[in-house]
Amino acid sequence: MSKTIQNDILLKVLNNETVSRPPVWMMRQAGRYLPEFMAIREKYDFFTRCRTPELAAEITVQPVDIIGVDAAILFSDILVVPQAMNIPFVMKENQGPWLDAPIRTQKDVEEVIVPNVHETLKYVLDAIHLTNEKLAGRVPLIGFAGSPWTILCYTVEGKGSKNFDIAKGFCFTNPDLAHTLLQKITDTTIAYLKAQVEAGVDVVQVFDSWGGMLSFDDYMIFSWPYIKQIVDELSTITKVIVFAKGCWFALHEMAKSPVSALGIDWTCPPHVARELTDNKVVLQGNFDPARLLSPIEEIQVEVEKMIQAFSGQNYIANLGHGILPNIPVSHAKAFVDAVKNYRY
Ligand code: CP3
Repeated sequence: MSKTIQNDILLKVLNNETVSRPPVWMMRQAGRYLPEFMAIREKYDFFTRCRTPELAAEITVQPVDIIGVDAAILFSDILVVPQAMNIPFVMKENQGPWLDAPIRTQKDVEEVIVPNVHETLKYVLDAIHLTNEKLAGRVPLIGFAGSPWTILCYTVEGKGSKNFDIAKGFCFTNPDLAHTLLQKITDTTIAYLKAQVEAGVDVVQVFDSWGGMLSFDDYMIFSWPYIKQIVDELSTITKVIVFAKGCWFALHEMAKSPVSALGIDWTCPPHVARELTDNKVVLQGNFDPARLLSPIEEIQVEVEKMIQAFSGQNYIANLGHGILPNIPVSHAKAFVDAVKNYRY
């Protein structure tokens, strides 16, 4: 079902159309820096918020109402995919994702299922329908999933980590097992993102948060081939953005795929990202999230510098990673307003 979107500047850029300023949204824009988010967080635990379509939809729309971003991103988590695959992640207060029994052996991998996503992740699809009702066509809705490599990192490690050594060790000692697991995650993710598109998301983003832990050669073995399967399948039905944190080294290869845009973090200068991608894809990013702690006047100056450094209308303004919980709402809004006031 096609819908009319009032503010479609994000979709225009993804379609390589002319715009008068960059579109802007922020990764993790529905988050702990918003008092309205904290009010809901006090009453319901994390996965209850994800699994209750009314709550997920309400949280998704908050930054559209409060900050005025040009897109909504569905409130959910990348870990709902492994949960649906029989990997029972919980979110531990003050600690993050947690798995009592991490996936480490052949038996563990064999027990991982490729589920029917229309059943196991129906609550996400319901949240998409409800969110679109609440948005009433104001801005597009972005769906998402984690990359297979990033999901493997959490499932093998069993928790967050600075460098995911256990996950890497698993891949380097049991490559066949790693590839079996990565393929199961990939198959589930493709079905899941297709279902999100059918339910009504306008764009999908794949988050490879831990790709930057790998060397280029290992990235080309354990991460990119699986993301590429997702991009190849999804790009025929929707716009696909890939955000691979710390993966400047893979940008050249990624740009050869049918992605609509590539996200970059703040450690990669815009002109380097342009060179690596032969200036042929839309780039998204790359404001240092901690830079939002600067005084508002400085944020305004830095935003202008960032937009100019990306030099071209094939650009989406965003942070280089998720917004931090300690950012004042006024600073987040100043970032968004600075982009919205810019003119090419
Ligand atoms: O961007 C958005 O606003 C949409 C919602 C969203 C969440 N998680 C909500 C969330 C998205 C896109 C994600 C993706 C996600 N989840 C990633 C990839 C992006 C990234 O940040 O690299 C990863 C690695 C996860 C896994 C995850 N979820 C971790 C490690 C944590 C704990 C860390 C933390 O910030 O507390 C989460 C929890 C989580 N997911 C929160 C939110 C708003 C915070 C939990 C809370 O409500 O307190």
